[in-house]
Amino acid sequence: MNKLGLKHLLGIKNLSASQIELIFDTAQNFKQILNRPVKKVPSLKDKTIANIFFENSTRTKISFELAEKRLSADVVNFNSSSSSVKKGETLTDTVNNILAMKVDMIVMRHPSPGAAEFLSTQVEAQIINAGDGTHEHPTQALLDAFSIKESLSEIKHKKIVIIGDIMHSRVALSNIFCLKKLGAEVKVCGPASLIPKHIETIGVSYEPNLEKALQWCDVANTLRIQLERQEKEYIASSRNYAAQYGISKQKLDRLDKPIIIMHPGPINRGVELTGDVADSQHAIILDQVENGVAIRMAVLYLLGTN
Ligand code: CP
Repeated sequence: MNKLGLKHLLGIKNLSASQIELIFDTAQNFKQILNRPVKKVPSLKDKTIANIFFENSTRTKISFELAEKRLSADVVNFNSSSSSVKKGETLTDTVNNILAMKVDMIVMRHPSPGAAEFLSTQVEAQIINAGDGTHEHPTQALLDAFSIKESLSEIKHKKIVIIGDIMHSRVALSNIFCLKKLGAEVKVCGPASLIPKHIETIGVSYEPNLEKALQWCDVANTLRIQLERQEKEYIASSRNYAAQYGISKQKLDRLDKPIIIMHPGPINRGVELTGDVADSQHAIILDQVENGVAIRMAVLYLLGTN
């Protein structure tokens, strides 16, 4: 078995706190390597990894590809919009054809919740979930929690509010699982129409008032309104949402302490955050992106080596 003791990374739900800490410690070592002139190590030189993306991505796709190349793996990329999926091929057939070309690991993004887990039951390769519909986005949660730990030294007992479209967000669910396992206090905030019923059953509370949530927290993680996943309109308008739940400099200036602002991207400037907040010293948005490469190197290394 590999160093993580898991064949696949399908979600945060089934990781233990000690597995998450092992990923963080490994990522910390890789982050030092990434800051050296020579950023490459030979750890996965015998592995071939396919990145198969059935949904759009900027950060996750580039971050995984860079992580794989920094670990010296051979890398192939598959984009559903230019593939034979368009001709009616099933997911299992597509992946089995890719695996016939001797691929060891699959990094997959897919619009259907559970797609990564399904694939793990159908094929021999190791599967890493790069986001499955509204379900989980485990490496995003790991890089978010790692970035919080880097900023505040620890996560235990820290107060984190996740703001916005909790209902449609895989980032929210994976973040909640990860932060709770590491001992943080977590609240969610946003319009009631975008908060899942019974959210308290996974150990978080709901604060409908943004200013109270910001006053309470150490960290505010703001999420994009996912219009592409909403079958009907859950908010009156983006302008209305921005007025009530968008974070502006004026709202931050009214707090009696500085807080850390996060966003997984892509940002809708002027909706969930104003541009001056996104670019301010309180925002660690680009640190999250930087840390994503080290976290993905750590996950690939721990899954891919004995
Ligand atoms: N945060 C995130 O998953 O971004 P992409 O959709 O660009 O990969």
